[in-house]
Amino acid sequence: MHKQHPENEQQFGYFDDQKCEYVITNPHTPTPWINYLGNDGFYGLISNTGGGYCFYRDPKFRRLTRYRYNSVPVDNGGRYFYLKSEGQTWSATGRPVHTELDQYSCHHGMGYSRFKASKNAISSQLTSFIPLNTKAEVHQLELKNDGDTTKAVELFSFIEWCLWNAEDDGANFQRNLSTGEVEVEGSTIYHKTEYRERRNHYAFYSVNHPIDGFETDRETFLGPYRGFENPIAVERGKTANSVARGWSPIASHHIKCELAPGESKTLVFVLGYCEVEATNKWQAPNIINKQPAQTLQAQFDTSEKVTAELLKLKNYWQNLLGKFVVKSPDERFDRALNIWNQYQNMVTFNLSRSASFYESGIGRGMGFRDSNQDTIGFAHMVPEKVKERILDLSSTQKTDGSAYHQYQPLTKKGNANIGGNFNDDPMWMVLSTANYIKETGDFSILDEMVIYDGQEQATHNHFDHLERAFNHVVNNLGPHGLPLIGRADWNDCLNLNCFSEDPNESYQTTQRGASDVAESVMIAGQFVLYGQEFVEICQRIGKNELASKCQTHVDQMRSSVEQHGWDGEWYIRAYDANGDKVGSNDNAEGKIFIESQGFCAMAGIGSEQGKPLQAMNSVEKHLSSDFGIMLNQPAFTRYSKYLGEISSYPPGYKENAGIFCHNNPWITISEAMLGRPEKAFEYYSKITPAFLQDVQKLHKTEPYVYSQMIAGNDSANPGEAKNSWLTGTAAWNYYAATQYILGIRPDYDGLLIDPCILPSWKSVAITREFRGANYQIELRNPSGLKKGKVELTIDGVKVAGNLIDPKRFGAKHTVVAEIVA
Ligand code: GLC
Ligand code: GLC
Repeated sequence: MHKQHPENEQQFGYFDDQKCEYVITNPHTPTPWINYLGNDGFYGLISNTGGGYCFYRDPKFRRLTRYRYNSVPVDNGGRYFYLKSEGQTWSATGRPVHTELDQYSCHHGMGYSRFKASKNAISSQLTSFIPLNTKAEVHQLELKNDGDTTKAVELFSFIEWCLWNAEDDGANFQRNLSTGEVEVEGSTIYHKTEYRERRNHYAFYSVNHPIDGFETDRETFLGPYRGFENPIAVERGKTANSVARGWSPIASHHIKCELAPGESKTLVFVLGYCEVEATNKWQAPNIINKQPAQTLQAQFDTSEKVTAELLKLKNYWQNLLGKFVVKSPDERFDRALNIWNQYQNMVTFNLSRSASFYESGIGRGMGFRDSNQDTIGFAHMVPEKVKERILDLSSTQKTDGSAYHQYQPLTKKGNANIGGNFNDDPMWMVLSTANYIKETGDFSILDEMVIYDGQEQATHNHFDHLERAFNHVVNNLGPHGLPLIGRADWNDCLNLNCFSEDPNESYQTTQRGASDVAESVMIAGQFVLYGQEFVEICQRIGKNELASKCQTHVDQMRSSVEQHGWDGEWYIRAYDANGDKVGSNDNAEGKIFIESQGFCAMAGIGSEQGKPLQAMNSVEKHLSSDFGIMLNQPAFTRYSKYLGEISSYPPGYKENAGIFCHNNPWITISEAMLGRPEKAFEYYSKITPAFLQDVQKLHKTEPYVYSQMIAGNDSANPGEAKNSWLTGTAAWNYYAATQYILGIRPDYDGLLIDPCILPSWKSVAITREFRGANYQIELRNPSGLKKGKVELTIDGVKVAGNLIDPKRFGAKHTVVAEIVA
């Protein structure tokens, strides 16, 4: 139906950097290409054809609209706008009606999406966003008659309510088909299921225009056995004004209008969420208190108000993105860092791994390891939120220093179904905390009093939580003096203590084996790296005795890895429950793994003997592919209960030799630390979407954000990606590119300048806000060095060393950093 992008049949759209938008010109993208609306509690997911849903804070417990995952057609459920004129029906977002549009484009921007469509000389522009500090989606729809005769146009809006608890909504039909309740008043449809009992909240869908009818009962709207593509109400051009009692409540407004040639009409739809005081729920018997809804609606009842709100949102993003701006010789690099990577960092920070088109919003809450890591891509943007998040995570930690693997955002309580024993979890909090302090200089985070899991009152400060995280590793060492892996480490699928032969068991939560002796070299590397960081924190706050005690443990771990963690040409990955090596040349499959190479090299373990360099050479030789670095090689071809889920995946996918993008930046950083800019840049750019525009069709997922996984060489379709948006790749690749390639690296005492840029880049300009000052930095590499010393000139004055000391310099500054031999 729609023409493919004229230049290249691989492409479905293009970047509009000026507007910070990605413009999709063909609705038939290989997978739904989505955007996120909202950034403070109320969120919406919206696809390039209007699919998706919204929720308040918790996508499991407080879901407003229904969405059908794992359904056909794909992307089923959304905010739909049916348009009808001169006997023809189409959709303002290109779906669900199948009618071919004369023109279609979807503009995904920073916190908003805009859909332009036209059919038979009626054009529409739908702008969807969640205004700042607002618990509502606003959908502004402009209709215009581009023809030369007067046209009658009919519009039907449509959303389907979710009965709040999204998991229950998709399962408990015997109850749910009887509980649905709505109220209709004027142009507003209220969803009040369970409001009579324990819920003090409701939702509504309104329009700032008189309506010609409505529907709130799904089957009345659709007609028996029909789908969203041809509702009977739309076909007939008539609604029955149905009031849902049970079954499936929806909200649909019917508006008829007439447009003279050139005339346009703008309507504002608001899909909102309201909480009401328990004592003030009703305005009359069985009639809900609509006052909060009316207040919310009044904020957006004119197009002028909506336009002003959209502008506020744009300014908000402009300001955020202005904190770090790079101008390099490669516009793809700039586009990734200046716009899309930072945007994705905000989304992963907000949502962890909870709600995407691959994460159903009912499974995973906020992950302890994931959320700690996500902060490293976001601390420069909104440090206050990072502080709050770190302390929330800290409060789910257990007294023995271990952590719940996940917590629910609504309750901030650790998720007992999943529990803990992922032994890498605790140390990620040292990374997030150190990174936060380096960004802000705010050591006071260490003094904040934080509860341990289940406690009523906080008796210890956050520093104590970090100390217990450190000790948790020390207290859980295995036979080689390496950390016990527990259920799994960063690699959730390396389940060395699970031994599962029952397909109904969860690999993640089953831990067997009386001895549990399996050990992780990756956690060892992580402990050396972040344990050293913890030592430094101790020193900086004057806890010198503790620092030296901890240093002993770090040194001990270093030597344990040197002794038991080196395989000759690379770091081994683990010891399994039988004490056998995993990720060693001795193994038939899975001889080498990426994670231990990354962490042990970043920690510099064995650097006197050149081990990090050797490990990087082995990564290049065995793991590197056209589309990124594979997790392990050779792939596992058989299931082994001693390895767990990793060996369950077909070769080339996910943790079994897929390109699991999250860990690629560890190699990029290691290469930069070794002073090899070409390698660092190559690994960085292979997985970065802005560099993959010529393979959009192969890649399949959104060409503006990272995906968790790209299929590896052993797969049927190398280069094909899955699981876009919610991945630690975003924060890590941003961190790698800004702090190690560009080398603009916050440290406790200031901003370090330590670049490892491509030798062909003679000059790179960077704007960096740091602790309240603005630095205009120029990196110069006149001799094309790979890595060198840096000579700093700040505001025209040469300074010694490569640190910008924020205590000495205030507001706005010009910095020249020249790389010299
Ligand atoms: C997923 C998880 C993350 C884990 C990774 C590797 O991305 O969210 O926690 O580290 O898989 O298994
Ligand atoms: C599965 C996935 C892995 C994810 C984990 C979370 O094992 O393969 O990527 O991290 O589930 O529980």
